[in-house]
Amino acid sequence: MPELNLGLVGLGRIGQMHAANITSTAGIGTLSVFDLSEEQLSKAVADFGATAYDSLQELIGSGIDGLVIAAGTSAHASLIRAGVDAGIPVFCEKPLAPAAEVPELLEYIRHRNGVVQIGHQRRLDSGYLEAKRAFEAGELGWIHTLRAVTCDARPPAIEFLATSGGLFRDCSVHDFDILHWLTGREITSVFARGSNRGDPRIGEVGDVDTAMAMITFDDGTLGSVTASRYNGAGHDVRLEVQGSESTMVVGLDERSAFRSAEADIGFPTGTSHAEFMNRFEDAYLREMEAFTEVIRGVRSNPCTPEDAVAASAIADAAQQSLETGQPVAVHPVGQ
Ligand SMILES: NC(=O)c1ccc[n+]([C@@H]2O[C@H](COP(=O)([O-])OP(=O)(O)OC[C@H]3O[C@@H](n4cnc5c(N)ncnc54)[C@H](O)[C@@H]3O)[C@@H](O)[C@H]2O)c1
Repeated sequence: MPELNLGLVGLGRIGQMHAANITSTAGIGTLSVFDLSEEQLSKAVADFGATAYDSLQELIGSGIDGLVIAAGTSAHASLIRAGVDAGIPVFCEKPLAPAAEVPELLEYIRHRNGVVQIGHQRRLDSGYLEAKRAFEAGELGWIHTLRAVTCDARPPAIEFLATSGGLFRDCSVHDFDILHWLTGREITSVFARGSNRGDPRIGEVGDVDTAMAMITFDDGTLGSVTASRYNGAGHDVRLEVQGSESTMVVGLDERSAFRSAEADIGFPTGTSHAEFMNRFEDAYLREMEAFTEVIRGVRSNPCTPEDAVAASAIADAAQQSLETGQPVAVHPVGQ
């Protein structure tokens, strides 16, 4: 099977990680890169032996087999269009695009039969996959409650928080996606609350440092999604799936970010993950492998644009509920 030549545009925080993963993924021969920043471009050449291009057009014109987009969200729509126009499969980091651009972009992709995989990496995490398998095999019975947690050990830079869209869109969107994906059910309403007990500047830029959303599914299942920027025990990502037959927990292992209140059970013994890139190291690798399989046409797309838009719509509803204090109905955009 010929090796693939992948193009990567956007070489910031997550783009450099994708560059490392692409160069260690079997079946990929060449990594070609472009970034508006000369510094980031040079770094990718030095660190990963990538071939640099001066423009997106030159990158695409070089004959790449697939385009990976890890540029900032505001650039996603135009970059996706360029990949779709060139007739090559696209992997784009979440979210698909800013909400206002979503309906037109979805239509554009559909009309041209574009193949676009979105980077909700938890769908490739072994724990979430096992919980979904167990649920679908009937091992958990019918689900009565799902409880999802995503907490950072420390807040990111205030400059980032000022433009992140809020805690639900930045962090909890991954939980909203997983709850939708795992159950295969629609989330119909969200009721959210948030608080600020840490750095007052987080409130000043319009965000909260801790939040909780109660969600209702179309079959009556209940769920909660909680997030915080101040989790002293470390980066904590978990999901409890409780059913009529059994319960399964994702993220319960030797690196779980908590300690037991029970007497000396000797668990967990490890050090908690520092942040999301360590926690999902393997899942990020798996999603790049999955993209090569999508390019070769040997697997289905693990996260479509419509899937990502559904998760963003829940996050938008949670943010609206936080701001209004009222429960908000979820209406996926452009579906
Ligand atoms: N899946 C996840 O867990 C996850 C985690 C973090 C970020 N993200 C997503 O990844 C994307 C990038 O986030 P980041 O934190 O790496 O951002 P970043 O600001 O660190 O990096 C963005 C890079 O893109 C480049 N860029 C911007 N517009 C460009 C364009 N038009 N052409 C070429 N290069 C361009 C910038 O120069 C910069 O180097 C965002 O959409 C974010 O939502 C996803």
